[in-house]
Amino acid sequence: MSSGPFEFAPAHDPAPRWVDLYALDELQVNVGIQVRLEQLWLAVFKLPDGTVCVVDDQCPHAGASLHRGHVDEDGCVICPRHAWHFDLKTGRMPDSSIEHLPTYAVRLENGRVLADISRPRPVPPVDPARISEP
Ligand code: FES
Repeated sequence: MSSGPFEFAPAHDPAPRWVDLYALDELQVNVGIQVRLEQLWLAVFKLPDGTVCVVDDQCPHAGASLHRGHVDEDGCVICPRHAWHFDLKTGRMPDSSIEHLPTYAVRLENGRVLADISRPRPVPPVDPARISEP
């Protein structure tokens, strides 16, 4: 039954879409690689603790390729153009509650890195203590 122009479709999650991105043993610690996939340009990083992170390769500020960025000791990639920092595990900027970088769920299987590209992971909730006063 329709309720007119203000009817909304129920929210639902898209089905996961796992895709094979790269060989795990070819990743070097803190060195990003770019994977182009349909309309997505992704960056894959392996952190010193062994965590593999998949994020959008394009910086949300002005589109620089983040796989070319340096990774600092906190696990943040530093954009090579204007040096914004993004936590590779969460996509959040450590010093901002607004801008963020889309991240993707990762699975490691048979020596391969897979990511669910059905949609970026939700942005983690903002720590209210980090919201600056107006
Ligand atoms: S393009 Fe990345 S910080 Fe400006």
